[in-house]
Amino acid sequence: MLVTEDCFVIHTPETGTRTPPWRLRYAGEIMSPCSICGGVGLVRVVSSAGLWVSRPCECQEMQREERRVAAARIPERYRHYDLDGYEILRGSDPSLGRAHLTARSFVEAYPVDTAGRGLLFTGSIGVGKTHLAVGVLRRLIRDRGVKGLFCDYRELLKSIQNSYNPQVSTTELELLQPVFNAEVLVLDDLGAQKPNEWVWDTVALILNTRYNNKQTTIITTNYPDQPAGGGAQTDAERSAREQTLGDRIGDRMRSRLAEMCVRVEMKGEDFRQSVKRARFG
Ligand SMILES: Nc1ncnc2c1ncn2[C@@H]1O[C@H](COP(=O)(O)OP(=O)(O)OP(=O)(O)O)[C@@H](O)[C@H]1O
Ligand SMILES: [Mg+2]
Ligand SMILES: [Zn+2]
Repeated sequence: MLVTEDCFVIHTPETGTRTPPWRLRYAGEIMSPCSICGGVGLVRVVSSAGLWVSRPCECQEMQREERRVAAARIPERYRHYDLDGYEILRGSDPSLGRAHLTARSFVEAYPVDTAGRGLLFTGSIGVGKTHLAVGVLRRLIRDRGVKGLFCDYRELLKSIQNSYNPQVSTTELELLQPVFNAEVLVLDDLGAQKPNEWVWDTVALILNTRYNNKQTTIITTNYPDQPAGGGAQTDAERSAREQTLGDRIGDRMRSRLAEMCVRVEMKGEDFRQSVKRARFG
């Protein structure tokens, strides 16, 4: 098949109709080798000087992109989370529209204007914190070639626990290298669990190291970004009020996060209850 593109003539195997290369974006949908290069990865083109030369087929970049997305280990259940799929419903709290805008602006500004800073999405259950965090991560991976990683906080605590080597009473930090090294890390549900002291020290080491290296960390949490104690004066007040981020991760780390991340407060109803409620029929 000969296809004319600009001044090039692209020669491809005789595979009949040409599958649009963008179909390759969806790894699960790849049914057959690329119909442009037949799976070879190279196409022969006639250069403007009239010579036949080989160049990488466009499917190669898409496959690289797909590999980067897979390497980010975004859980299957969050596969559909995408900035474009985030809806602003009529009557919803203005903070949700603002959060969406901030997420989009962040992607635009990355990496020069974000200067290593990340985002801290706070809000109650189901307001769409993880949706936006994953949406940003996905966009950065695709559009900016970023090496990103998704990390559930509870899973991180488990990995730290598992990396503990009782023989030398220390953590085998090399097992946690992906979390230290990721260019952009999404840490989902910070504060969801309270670890013991040495596990927490490792979490703090990860966050501090990333901060010092100006690596971007995007965090979601259900806890309001307020200091420990939340202003309660009496024991009764303390037990009645909801826990704050300061209670869960300590004021020191909270203040570190204030430097590391732009805070994005999200208010609203649980989208799962109000819109996505499971129905039959
Ligand atoms: N504005 C929105 N537009 C489209 N889908 C949304 C929106 N907000 C939330 N959702 C959907 O609602 C569900 C819950 O969203 P998400 O998991 O991001 O909430 P969350 O704030 O992280 O909740 P949790 O505190 O339980 O972790 C997901 O299926 C998500 O895609
Ligand atoms: Mg979430
Ligand atoms: Zn190809």
